[in-house]
Amino acid sequence: MKAIICKSFGPPSNLEYGEMPDPIPAEDEILVNIKACSVNFPDTLIIQGKYQFKPELPFSPGSDVAGFVEAVGSQVKGFKPGDEIVAMTIWGGMAEKMAIKATNCFPKPPEMEMETAASFLVAYGTSYYALKTRGQLKEGETLLVLGASGGVGLTAVELGKMMGARVIAAASTAEKLQLCKEYGADELINYNEENLRDRIKEITGKKGVDVIYDPVGGQYAETALRCMGWDGRYLVVGFAAGDIPKVPLNLPLLKSYQIVGVFWGAWALRDPAANFQQIMQLVQWFKEGKLKPHIQATFPLQEAPRALELILERKVKGKVVIAI
Ligand SMILES: NC(=O)c1ccc[n+]([C@@H]2O[C@H](COP(=O)([O-])OP(=O)(O)OC[C@H]3O[C@@H](n4cnc5c(N)ncnc54)[C@H](OP(=O)(O)O)[C@@H]3O)[C@@H](O)[C@H]2O)c1
Repeated sequence: MKAIICKSFGPPSNLEYGEMPDPIPAEDEILVNIKACSVNFPDTLIIQGKYQFKPELPFSPGSDVAGFVEAVGSQVKGFKPGDEIVAMTIWGGMAEKMAIKATNCFPKPPEMEMETAASFLVAYGTSYYALKTRGQLKEGETLLVLGASGGVGLTAVELGKMMGARVIAAASTAEKLQLCKEYGADELINYNEENLRDRIKEITGKKGVDVIYDPVGGQYAETALRCMGWDGRYLVVGFAAGDIPKVPLNLPLLKSYQIVGVFWGAWALRDPAANFQQIMQLVQWFKEGKLKPHIQATFPLQEAPRALELILERKVKGKVVIAI
């Protein structure tokens, strides 16, 4: 089969397009004929050997896929050849085929295009788990989303608004913020040009923010941590800026707020039934037209390294997808 191959850890330009052996599914796995794979920030870390999981070389990156069931292992129930599915993995998705554990596969709604389906699971799964299960976001609360136009950020804006929050979107360009506005953001902060702390104060007054969704980390985190309101929840989603922030622990004490870790993929493996329920809720909202995954661009498999570069160059709004 054709695949994007990582033969040595390094930047996207190291990746090669070539042949890999067809995978053989184990008894609890599905052999998936992959039609689309979206790019997530962790893909850029995995190929550099900087992620918490380090695959054996050579491997294909890609964790968010949609396609057809080609064959099923002897223990797999509920799926048959020809079914359309969406699935999450850790790597392996930028290839024509992949063997994926059946518990990580979900039926694809027929009204969802393959590219859209491949953009759905990680972005919406992470944000819904973060805001609902971890953040306990309530109607009428204020939600600040950092990196608000990114893959997970934009879904946090959209879901936060749907859940009844007053959403403040923070991002680095006017163009990115315009998209956040289209996805329901009530207030916009350009943290490249404006003082994040002053603007949050201006918007929330003395009260501060109830819930902060942070997939960025780096320089913005401490400022945001100083803007939390009483009894708030700071959701630690990721560190796209690179640096892992160090937190002065007097801050959560003074406002009696919580710093809450969010690791959706690990939770989904530990509690597949609860995750299944949340994914089905998200799919239902999609069918009702309430969620609109934003795809900035689609690339053929050979050009997957360019898609990964765009993420690292901070040029992606919503998602980029590899069509296979
Ligand atoms: N915890 C979980 O379960 C979970 C699940 C999925 C993803 N994540 C994490 O969430 C983060 C975002 O993932 P994503 O797929 O949404 O990525 P993405 O689409 O690239 O979005 C990341 C955003 O971070 C901002 N950013 C700031 N500094 C950056 C830098 N140096 N390089 C790149 N982006 C930078 C960018 O917005 P501005 O230009 O507007 O600042 C960008 O839109 C990653 O750290 C990822 O590992 C966590």
